[in-house]
Amino acid sequence: MRLEGVARRVELPDGERLDILTGVDLAVHAGDHVSIVGRSGSGKTTLLNILGLLDEPTAGRVLLDGTEVRQLSGRRRDTVRGRDIGFVFQQFNLLSGRTALENVVMPLMYAQGGSFWRRRQLATAMLERVGLGDRPDSRPDRLSGGEQQRVAIARALVRGPRLILADEPTGALDIETGAAVMALLDDVATESGAALITITHDLHVAARARRHYRLDQGVLSPADLAVAFSASTLVPEAGAPVRITGDEAP
Ligand SMILES: Nc1ncnc2c1ncn2[C@@H]1O[C@H](COP(=O)(O)OP(=O)(O)OP(=O)(O)O)[C@@H](O)[C@H]1O
Ligand SMILES: [Mg+2]
Repeated sequence: MRLEGVARRVELPDGERLDILTGVDLAVHAGDHVSIVGRSGSGKTTLLNILGLLDEPTAGRVLLDGTEVRQLSGRRRDTVRGRDIGFVFQQFNLLSGRTALENVVMPLMYAQGGSFWRRRQLATAMLERVGLGDRPDSRPDRLSGGEQQRVAIARALVRGPRLILADEPTGALDIETGAAVMALLDDVATESGAALITITHDLHVAARARRHYRLDQGVLSPADLAVAFSASTLVPEAGAPVRITGDEAP
């Protein structure tokens, strides 16, 4: 996926314009692991929605496999999103009335052919992959936060997406659980050859990626994590969450 000069501007009720993103250039290839760190309000979710084909830029281009996303019909875009992009959210976003297995099966209901017919088998294998093969019938309220996020990772990966977008995937987890979940996400993305973009406040989470960016007031630039660590207000201890100076609590 390639973003060229992407901007997102909104008009506020008083007629004033707000530039949420400006001049964002980013190219992400198969197997890439990229982190984007930025403080609250810097435009992270707005950028993720554009990468996930959920929102369109007001200027610039978004290209997927060289095709400009703007050229696709809404229906085609939905198909591409469902097939090629997996989402992992801070709050897991599992369906509460459904079992773990039913949650993982859900994306395959929209798949075609063998993926549809073999959906229970594929979902079961994916649940096993995330270490929950013995909990297929558990509903989310019977699972810990880390287990719920593992179900969400299984759901995000079950259709074999080529791009995984994670928005604060460890934000609702304790440090150790978060580290284990991140390691799992990293591993499954690597195994499948998918690109992984992780958006986070947490420099330790960002450090798992191979390429690092910083989003500051809607401007994306390559980041040097070593500098970010030394500039952070907290002394980084092993596994401790480190927030960028001035960051608000998530
Ligand atoms: N549709 C909109 N209309 C007006 N303002 C918006 C809209 N969408 C986002 N914003 C503003 O744009 C800025 C960036 O929002 P965004 O949600 O992308 O931030 P973020 O980096 O994800 O923050 P957080 O870390 O708190 O989730 C914020 O100041 C937000 O209030
Ligand atoms: Mg956000």
